[in-house]
Amino acid sequence: MCGIFAYTGERNAGEILLDGLTSLEYRGYDSAGIYTPQSGSVKSVGAVSHLRRKMPPGFFGTSGIAHLRWATHGEPTEGNAHPHTDCTGDVWVVHNGIVENHKELRKRLEAAGHTFVSSTDTEVLTHLVEEHLTLLRQGSEGQEPENIFEKAAVAALKEVKGTYGIAIQYKHDPARIIGARMGAPVVLGLGEHENFIASDASPILRHTRQIVFLEDGEVAVITPEGHTITKIGGESVSRAAEQVDWNAEAAQRNGYDHFMLKEIMEEPDAVRNTSRGRIIDTDGLAKLGGLESVAEKLRGIRRVIIVACGTASYAAMAGEYMLEENARIPTEVDIGSEFRYRTPVIDEGTAVIAVSQSGETADTLEAVREGKRRGALTLGIVNTVGSTIARETDAGIYLHAGPEISVASTKAYVSQLTALALLTLFLGRQRGMSVARGKEIAQALRELPGKIEEVLKRSDEIRKVAKKYANTRDFLFMGRKYNLATAFEGALKLKETSYIHAEACGAGEMKHGHLAMIDEKFPTIALAPSDSVYEKNMSNIQEIRTRKGPVIAIATDGDDEIRSTVNDVLYIPETIEMLSPILSVVPLHLFAYHFAKQKGINVDRPRNLAKSVTVE
Ligand code: AGP
Repeated sequence: MCGIFAYTGERNAGEILLDGLTSLEYRGYDSAGIYTPQSGSVKSVGAVSHLRRKMPPGFFGTSGIAHLRWATHGEPTEGNAHPHTDCTGDVWVVHNGIVENHKELRKRLEAAGHTFVSSTDTEVLTHLVEEHLTLLRQGSEGQEPENIFEKAAVAALKEVKGTYGIAIQYKHDPARIIGARMGAPVVLGLGEHENFIASDASPILRHTRQIVFLEDGEVAVITPEGHTITKIGGESVSRAAEQVDWNAEAAQRNGYDHFMLKEIMEEPDAVRNTSRGRIIDTDGLAKLGGLESVAEKLRGIRRVIIVACGTASYAAMAGEYMLEENARIPTEVDIGSEFRYRTPVIDEGTAVIAVSQSGETADTLEAVREGKRRGALTLGIVNTVGSTIARETDAGIYLHAGPEISVASTKAYVSQLTALALLTLFLGRQRGMSVARGKEIAQALRELPGKIEEVLKRSDEIRKVAKKYANTRDFLFMGRKYNLATAFEGALKLKETSYIHAEACGAGEMKHGHLAMIDEKFPTIALAPSDSVYEKNMSNIQEIRTRKGPVIAIATDGDDEIRSTVNDVLYIPETIEMLSPILSVVPLHLFAYHFAKQKGINVDRPRNLAKSVTVE
C-alpha cells in the first residue's frame, strides 16, 4: 500500500510535499521520492527523513508529485523509487496499486524502442502516456492538440489491467496534475488558489478540510484555480466536497477508531490482493510467479515443515491440513523458537516454508537458516517485500496484503491462509489433484472476499456479544481439524488485546482435562461450522452445556439446530472445508477488537508487545 501526494498552487511545493509524505509513512516507507517541473526529481531508500536530507538547497516548484513506496514489484531500491518518468523526462507518475499486465505492456513498449530504467510495474505507465502523446501528435501538423496531456493519460489508463491510485504530471504543463482511481483510494483537497491529490486525507488536512473522494473509474484534473472530475469514459462527474473534521491520524485510519479495525475491514481486499492474478479458473490451477524458479524441485519434495511464530504459526497449522489432505504431502508445523533447537531431521527432499508478515521475526529467520544449513529447499510466505526472510529463502509467495500497522495481526493472517491455499492448489495439481477439485478450490477462493464482506456486515452484532461477556476473565476456544488453528488464533487475538486469560484446545481434548475448568463463569467459543466434524463438535458442545458452561458458537448460515443448544451464535457463510478457517476467524477478530475496545485498552499497541519480534 503506497502513498501518493500531489500539489499545485502558489506556495513551495517541495516543503508541502515533504511534510505530506510524513503523514503517509504509515502506508509504507521502503523508499520515497518527489518531483517538481522546476527542480526535477529526488529519491531515496527508506523513510522521508532520508529524502529530506537529500533535497538539494533551493529545490523549488509551485507544483509537484511525491510518493512513499511499499514495495510489491521490484526490490525497495532508489532506482525503483517513484516518481517514475518516460524516455523524454516529460511525463512523471506516482502510483499506488498493481499493474497486472505490466509484463506484456513492457514487452510491447520495449519492442517499440522505449528504454526502462526500473524493475517496477509502475514505470510502464509513463511510457504508455509517452506513446499516446506521440500518437495524438501524429497528423496534427505541428499544432499541439487541445488537452493532449489529459487525452494521452486517459488513453494510457484504459490499457491498464489491475489497480491504480495515481498522480501524473507533464513537464510542459506544470500547473496541471491528473489523478485517477481504480481499486486504490484517491482524494482531492480543495484549497484557496491551490489544490491537492492524495491517497487519503491525512497529508491534506493541515491545508484544507474540503475533501472530494474519487470513485473507481474516475479521472480528476487539478489546477491552482479549480478541478474537474470525469469518468474514464469521458462523462463529466459533479461531486461536492465534504468537510472532513478528522485529525491526520484518524485520516490514516480512514476514519476507524483503530488500525486493528481498519485492517479487519481490509480483510476482503487483502484476500483479493493475495489471490490477484494467481487463480487460473479454467484449469483449476494456481499461478505463483515467485515459485517458478523452483517448480521442478517442488515436484520432487517428499516432506514439508512450516516454521512460523504466533499468529503466523496458526496459519501454518491450517496449512498443514490443507497440504496433507489436498496435495498428499507429509507436512508438519514447528514454531520457529523450537525448530532451531530441536535438531530436526531434514534432507534434500524436505521443504522448509517460513510464514511471516514482517519477514523479520528472529526465531522464524533462524529456523530458515537452520533449514538451509541442513540442505532443505526454503520458501517464504511473506508480506514485506525485500525483508530478510524474503531475501534469504530460495523462493516464495508475497502476500500483497499491504502494511499491517496494528500489533495484532488480522488481515495478514487471512492472507497467509489464502497463500497457503494457493500453494496447496499449486502443489496438489502437480501431484494428481483432479481438475475438478482444482476448479472447486479456485472457485471457492474467488468467492471468499465477498463472503468475508458478509461477515463484516455483522460487526455490530458481534460487538453486542462481546459486550454481553465484557466482565469475563477466562475464555476457552475449541475447534477441530481446519478450525483447530482458528481456535488458537482466536485465543491469541483476545489475550494479546484484552490481557485476559484465553486458551485453545482441540475439541476432542476437552474430556482429557480442559472440561474441569468449565462452569457458568467460564465460557467457551466453539468453532462449529457445517463441516466433516460438525457432529463431533456438537457432542463436545453438549458436554459443556450439561456443565452449565456458556457457549458462543461460530456456525454456518442456515444452521438453526445449534441455536437451541448454545447461548450465542455468530454465523458465517458456507465455503469448502479447507477454506473455512479464513471465514471462521473473521468473527473472532471482530470479537477480540470489540472486547478490547470496550475495556478502554490501546488496541493497536498492546502492552509488552511489538509488531515485529526481531530478537530471540
Ligand atoms: C499476532 O497478532 C502477533 N502480533 C504475533 O504473534 C505475530 O503474529 C508473530 O510475532 C509473528 O510475526 P510475523 O508474522 O511478522 O513473523
